Formats: sequence, C-alpha cells, structure tokens
Amino acid sequence: MTYVVTENCIACKYTDCVEVCPVDCFYEGENTLVIHPDECIDCGVCEPECPADAIRPDTEPDMEKWVEFNRKYSELWPVIITKKDPLPGAEERDGEEGKLEKYFSEAPGEGG
Ligand code: SF4
Ligand code: F3S
Repeated sequence: MTYVVTENCIACKYTDCVEVCPVDCFYEGENTLVIHPDECIDCGVCEPECPADAIRPDTEPDMEKWVEFNRKYSELWPVIITKKDPLPGAEERDGEEGKLEKYFSEAPGEGG
C-alpha cells in the first residue's frame, strides 16, 4: 500500500506533511503536493499532520485515480523537505468542491 495526497491539498498546500516524512518522498507542484507511491514506506505519520485532511491511505475506496496522479507528478516535480507558507486563500479553499478542475496546475513548484 501507500499513502497519497488527494484533492483537498490543491490550492491549500499547507506543507506540514513534508517535515515529518522519514524518507523525503513529497514532491511539489505549483499548487499541490504528491507522494511518490514507490518511495513511501507507509509509516502513516504524515496523515494526521495535514490540516486539510488531504493525505489518505490507498486502501480507502476509489483511490486508484489518486495513486496514478501521485505517481505521475512525483516523477515530474522537485522534492520538497522544508515547510513553507500555505498558499494565499488556503483557509477559504479548504473543503471546497471541484478543486481539481478549478485550480490544479501541472507546473512544478520550487521544491526545497
Ligand atoms: Fe512519508 Fe510515511 Fe507519509 Fe509515506 S506515510 S509519505 S513515508 S510520512
Ligand atoms: Fe497538502 Fe496537507 Fe501536505 S494540504 S501540502 S497534504 S499538509
């Protein structure tokens, strides 16, 4: 199994998760993060750290799409290991429906 970042990270990107990952397997896009499914050791410590409850185990229903999403972009974006400020408007957008269609950017983040 693996843990994956899901839709509610988009346009929030709190980044609390990256500080606790023992294997540094978070990758940064312009407005979301992903986990590399082959690097994640399934320790689960990042899940409770996310204020947006965006990190889920792939054992939950309908996670295949998110595993593939995380795999695809983790191979394209830079690694991130240091927490940074959330995106502007993160609190207002936490929990908003349709974030993938409305806000997702394929552009890489800065990493770091
Ligand atoms: Fe990293 Fe553990 Fe979270 Fe996987 S479950 S992304 S290894 S902190
Ligand atoms: Fe995203 Fe939550 Fe990490 S919003 S950046 S998965 S702390």
